[in-house]
Amino acid sequence: MNQYDFTNRAAVVTGGAQGIGYAVAQRLLEGGARVALWDRDEGALFEARASGRCRLGDVESVLVNLTDREAVAHATSRTLERFGQIDVLVHSAGIAGANATVVDYAPEEWARVIDIDLNAAFYVNQAVVKTMIARGYGRIVNIASIAGKEGNPNASAYSAAKAGVIALTKSLGKETAGLDIAVNAVTPAAARTKIFDQMKQEHIDYMLSKIPRGRFVEVKEIAAMVAWLASSENSFMTGAVFDLSGGRATY
Ligand SMILES: NC(=O)c1ccc[n+]([C@@H]2O[C@H](COP(=O)([O-])OP(=O)(O)OC[C@H]3O[C@@H](n4cnc5c(N)ncnc54)[C@H](O)[C@@H]3O)[C@@H](O)[C@H]2O)c1
Repeated sequence: MNQYDFTNRAAVVTGGAQGIGYAVAQRLLEGGARVALWDRDEGALFEARASGRCRLGDVESVLVNLTDREAVAHATSRTLERFGQIDVLVHSAGIAGANATVVDYAPEEWARVIDIDLNAAFYVNQAVVKTMIARGYGRIVNIASIAGKEGNPNASAYSAAKAGVIALTKSLGKETAGLDIAVNAVTPAAARTKIFDQMKQEHIDYMLSKIPRGRFVEVKEIAAMVAWLASSENSFMTGAVFDLSGGRATY
């Protein structure tokens, strides 16, 4: 496996207790990074901290609900106290939300999905990028979704939130392009993680049927692209969206 050098780099991985975030954290640790896992699931955080590379590496776990802006500020200070700097942010925390048509979508559920999948992305990007601007270096990778480009039926809140994450990434990428800061997003197709427990089987079948590769993307395949985007080798690309859809995306 190719490796990117994260020696002396400190990374924050939100949603790092499981799934895509956990796979990314493993990959960054393999490259020598110190990693802070920010997540609201205490049990999953505990398990993550005790397994794989996290067992051996310099890892901090931070229990935080990312929809709480003050809690995000507190998590940022805590990680800065521990590592002194944040070089890399991978924002992976998210939920699928209910599967229903727009006509039937409950407004409270819409608000919950937007809060976690879009507002939290803003809070986390804002808090962390400030510290990166102060140092003139940083790499941010936001985990969006192919749903944000295409709009999945029966997942309008999720699709809208992920489209928002793509736009946030493009704006922030341009705002920081004069510094050695890169802000990019990836748009995975479906990956079999715990997030599937939140979805209807018909929805999972629909997503699979749309992937020309004919299979789900593996979390390690997502981590591979994220690792490069998060590395210092990615010194030019910013404000961009990187496809991980197995051929589904046509733009
Ligand atoms: N798995 C897929 O099919 C897929 C496809 C495209 C994009 N994504 C996106 O990738 C990201 C990670 O998904 P995953 O498949 O690893 O899901 P997952 O459910 O395995 O992990 C998500 C993590 O985010 C955490 N989280 C959720 N809300 C939070 C909050 N308010 N505060 C702190 N932590 C919170 C959860 O506790 C969990 O550990 C999500 O943003 C998801 O939308 C997933």
